[in-house]
Amino acid sequence: MTKKKQYILQDYVSRPDSIKHHISELSWNRGIENFFLENVPFSYSTGLDYADRIISLIHKHYLLNKKKTIKVLEIGSGSGLLAYRILYLLHKQKRPYAKHVQFIITDFSEAIINQIKKGGIFSDFKDQVSFKVLNFLTDDYKSYSSCDIVLMTYLLDSVPYFHLHKKGTKLYETKIQTTFDEDYYYVDTTQFPPLILKQDQVKDHFLNKLKQKDLNTLSRSSRNLDEHYKQFLLHKDSPIYNSPILKDFLAEYTDKSFQFNYSENVCIALNNLFAALPKKCNDSHI
Ligand SMILES: C[S@@+](CC[C@H](N)C(=O)[O-])C[C@H]1O[C@@H](n2cnc3c(N)ncnc32)[C@H](O)[C@@H]1O
Repeated sequence: MTKKKQYILQDYVSRPDSIKHHISELSWNRGIENFFLENVPFSYSTGLDYADRIISLIHKHYLLNKKKTIKVLEIGSGSGLLAYRILYLLHKQKRPYAKHVQFIITDFSEAIINQIKKGGIFSDFKDQVSFKVLNFLTDDYKSYSSCDIVLMTYLLDSVPYFHLHKKGTKLYETKIQTTFDEDYYYVDTTQFPPLILKQDQVKDHFLNKLKQKDLNTLSRSSRNLDEHYKQFLLHKDSPIYNSPILKDFLAEYTDKSFQFNYSENVCIALNNLFAALPKKCNDSHI
């Protein structure tokens, strides 16, 4: 079989600059339908089994602290279904503290938060929930300092990070090239008749749509994009290489070789979050 000719849409870049990452970040503006349109998995992370595991954590906190109200902050809540299932189970299991668990449900997508508020799934638990738009990476946590438990489920792989590979004393970054093949048709239905492009005609239009953040065209087209990976030695003057948090982390594993995803912003956000929370909140995790 002859190999199809590949056209480069974007040459090797770090993951946060890649086309698929940009489209993925934009896609949350759609609201909850994004889970269905982009096949984002949510069955386990919003299901009853997982909710029951979180209840065991809430229970442990209750036994340890005997506080009247237990405040749970959920960051990157998506559909809000996990909080709903936890509240539903707490009441079904007749936990003595069922009525005293207070959820603050947050996500950085205003569309998602507005849909959960209007959707009515919390009608049985109206007094136990509140909703906020919160960006985990850029907002501060001062107003959440009275929370007892923080939930983040499938959040960290949605934020920008770098793919790194430590091989002995050397550090490599895996970068991403994005291509499409000669049979691919780019279809822009924002005009009528639709604009249909192929091969050399595609790149400029596609990148323009990326600048304009035209999610509909981008997400339909992105299904036919291919990613290729290549490792690049990290230079000593690269900001990632010089990140103090990364240096400390690597110093613990001097001789080892392993691959990992790294985001300094996530480390900083987690440190800020832990600093804002009461000490007890930092003591237990599942
Ligand atoms: C993969 S979904 C997981 C949703 C939900 N926790 C679940 O398990 O079904 C990631 C969620 O994180 C949100 N998100 C992405 N980046 C965020 C950020 N910087 N701050 C807060 N939420 C963010 C998205 O809007 C999305 O709802």
